[in-house]
Amino acid sequence: MTDTPETVITAPRETDNLDPRTDAPVRPAEPVHMAPVQLGGITVPTPVVLSPMAGVTNWPFRVLCEEYGPDGLYVAEMITARALVARNPKALRLCRFAPSEKIRSLQLYGVNPSITEQAARIVVDEGMADHVDLNFGCPVPKVTRRGGGSALPWKTDIFTELIHRVVAVCEPAGIPVTAKIRVGIDHDHETFLQAGHIAQEEGAKAVTLHARTTAEYYGGHSDWSRIGELKAHLDVPVFGNGDIWGAEDALEMVRETGCDGVAIGRGCQGRPWLFANIKNAFEGSDERINPNLGEVGRIIRRHAELLTEFYDGDETMAVHDLRKHIAWYLKGFPVGGSTRKAFMECETLDDVNRQIDRLDPTIEYPPRVIDKPRGRVRFAKKVHLPYGWLDSRTTTHEERETLFGDDPMDASY
Ligand SMILES: Cc1cc2nc3c(=O)[nH]c(=O)nc-3n(C[C@H](O)[C@H](O)[C@H](O)COP(=O)(O)O)c2cc1C
Repeated sequence: MTDTPETVITAPRETDNLDPRTDAPVRPAEPVHMAPVQLGGITVPTPVVLSPMAGVTNWPFRVLCEEYGPDGLYVAEMITARALVARNPKALRLCRFAPSEKIRSLQLYGVNPSITEQAARIVVDEGMADHVDLNFGCPVPKVTRRGGGSALPWKTDIFTELIHRVVAVCEPAGIPVTAKIRVGIDHDHETFLQAGHIAQEEGAKAVTLHARTTAEYYGGHSDWSRIGELKAHLDVPVFGNGDIWGAEDALEMVRETGCDGVAIGRGCQGRPWLFANIKNAFEGSDERINPNLGEVGRIIRRHAELLTEFYDGDETMAVHDLRKHIAWYLKGFPVGGSTRKAFMECETLDDVNRQIDRLDPTIEYPPRVIDKPRGRVRFAKKVHLPYGWLDSRTTTHEERETLFGDDPMDASY
């Protein structure tokens, strides 16, 4: 695939994506009334979604989030359809759920409708999940240069066929299918209204919009006005996504866009209690959790134990996975560089527990990081697409052959 020429779009300047919200007149806060969202036969009582994040939303993290915010929808990180079909052990591990998870929600990523259908068939036949989300939002070059993720809605023929085939397999089994999309490839190649409509017509039970283009990657701001546009355009529920860092952001997104629910990605990294805060906000309560370091230490300890279970007792793998979470948990706390370094050098649960015991449990949650942005923030330098991708909205026979001969076999991006 590396020998094949690509279509490359150069990223916009940061100033091309100014926050439309900062120019909006300030309106008095109105109460929001959130209703449960129905996905086919599944009810999501509190319409808050843990947005799938590769390397983050495995079951240990989902369990922590769900303990704070019962009644939401907690989606696993994306599983490559081909890896599932090939029964790649890493992909199979990512398909596991904890017994406490109420709605077992998997996200599939595929470019090839036939392979994705086969993956959906495995999910159905083996009773692996209660809900399937389809990933059409990933901006990572490794994915888009194969026509996948956020590149795919541009090709309406493959996009339509893929959703159609997955729904045809899942729907008879009572498994609702939803789609997660971006605004488009860039502002000259927007796809979200059409993609949302196609998804709805093909039987998707809801659509989540991350209101950025592929070119915007994670830079600038999610343009929530596009979520409002999509909401006005569709009959199925719309989940708004992008830049919700605290409960007040969630309320504001709902007020501004009329979306049926919100999806949270980076905002909950190191803050699983954000789901409690949003649930409270949606229920009209002002109560907010911002735990002190003692409580954060307790969460880290529990996270480490759950990860050890996830990795079948392999403490090294668990502790290595935990490192990024620890960095997020400790963000803003005045614990010093040497403590952070010591956590990063931990290899066993005992090492982690020893470091936790050294933390001062009385330190309050640092106000300067409450409800503030975290995680990835950069623009894409370039958008990588298969050669000639933008020339037409449908694929030629040759394009399909090139694309489908080379799906990635790995389980993550
Ligand atoms: C580390 C990371 C991994 C991600 N992995 C996925 C994924 O597997 N599937 C997906 O649809 N989106 C993925 N996303 C995108 C998020 O689900 C979400 O749409 C995006 O971060 C915007 O929401 P936020 O502003 O709340 O973070 C990922 C984002 C991050 C930061």
